[in-house]
Amino acid sequence: VKAASRQIHRRDPMEECVMIVEQFRKICCTSADVLNLLVNDLVSSMEAGLKTKDSKNSPKMLPSFVENLPNGSEKGSYFALDLGGTNFRILHVELGGRKAKVVKQEVEECSIPEKLKIATGRELFDFIAEKLSTFVRKTHGSTLSNHDWHHHQRKELQLGFTFSFPVDQKSIDGGSLLEWTKGFKCDGVIGENVVQLLEEALARNGLEMKVNVLINDTVGTLAAGRYLYDNTIIAIILGTGTNSAYIESSAALRLKLDESQLPKSTTTVINTEWSYFWSPYLPVTDIDMELLHESPLPGQQQYEKLISGMYLGEIVRRVLQKLQRQSGVFGKSVLSNLANPHSLDARTMSVMHEDESCGLQKVAKVLEENFDIVGTSLELRRLVQTVCDVVCQRAGRLAAVGIVAMLKKIGWDQASTTITIAVDGGLYEHYKKFRGYLFDAMRELLGEKVAENISIVLCKDGSGIGAALLAASHS
Ligand code: GLC
Repeated sequence: VKAASRQIHRRDPMEECVMIVEQFRKICCTSADVLNLLVNDLVSSMEAGLKTKDSKNSPKMLPSFVENLPNGSEKGSYFALDLGGTNFRILHVELGGRKAKVVKQEVEECSIPEKLKIATGRELFDFIAEKLSTFVRKTHGSTLSNHDWHHHQRKELQLGFTFSFPVDQKSIDGGSLLEWTKGFKCDGVIGENVVQLLEEALARNGLEMKVNVLINDTVGTLAAGRYLYDNTIIAIILGTGTNSAYIESSAALRLKLDESQLPKSTTTVINTEWSYFWSPYLPVTDIDMELLHESPLPGQQQYEKLISGMYLGEIVRRVLQKLQRQSGVFGKSVLSNLANPHSLDARTMSVMHEDESCGLQKVAKVLEENFDIVGTSLELRRLVQTVCDVVCQRAGRLAAVGIVAMLKKIGWDQASTTITIAVDGGLYEHYKKFRGYLFDAMRELLGEKVAENISIVLCKDGSGIGAALLAASHS
């Protein structure tokens, strides 16, 4: 070992890095065979998740108790809250029925301060309630006289709440948080009914609203997709986190739920929580293993930690850190600059990855601004871009595995019917190369002809709009 490490130190730093990246690339590489094995594994772990109450390293397959997906005839004025990603959104939607559909839509978006993600539950819900209260008064206050304000509130103000975390539901209008994901860690929420926490916070802000539905973002996206295209049966989120939802027969839950808890409708929507999927075929490197154990929910959510926006930049940062540690290629005294967890986000990573400028000026700029690294050679910048490419390609291909597994799970008849898959999330929306890798892998797995029958539709803000639509179809 000693002789080997001495040899490593004598190698040229650039050469050393090329070797490390090459090795990393090899392990991350996903042949169609591996992807197919993963598809099968994911399908079986979803099947297993439908039958068990308690699943650790497999999709949780949570029933949503959605009884009616919107069909376009919904009417009225509804509010929605969308919490669970990088941003928090408040929406007001006016639905005009079959012909008019969405007559008016107002959206307010704000980013969630990092410190609020680790504050107390009360602080988090007070923040949400205060923003909602200001929004409601701004958009609705003028239409009601002061006298009518309180009287009309509960009756008139109906809300759909998108809360994008794993929640245990017994009905559509409430549910308790199973665990926080995506870096949220507010005390006093796990095991509590989040609708009640929201209503209490609203009451502290002098606002009374009826929370018609509590849903996951995937469920909202499915509803939004369905509202526009009635052949939508699957929804996917590719954003800060990743997840999917689909329509399942309620009978499939017989072993998971007691008879009295089964949904009353014949079909229901399942939130798969596929982030928890694990398989020995997942292409993971030592760097991914470190990240798996040093991130929220240590040792869990391996699938999400290879795919989603919260982790992609972080994987790249860890690779760069390793390059520096082993070769010093970025120059003296920058190791500590590269040591800051989450100092490279997916958006910035995509800027480097998609840099087509001659001389890779954008890569140079990111390295300088994020890590104080200056004077890199073009060769080194190319290598950094390769690292981004490897991480992005693996993520896109693994996301395709998820989509193909969903199609298999629902038994989609590939030959005859067309299908719409609704997608929401910043990673999918903004990272073109990620989308490209995802589509390539889907064509590879399904064949060009079959892939043509699938329409993947971006439902921007679908997670929030879907909450308003479901609030309407469950009013
Ligand atoms: C995480 C959450 C899940 C959510 C997904 C996308 O995986 O656990 O509930 O749908 O992120 O936001």
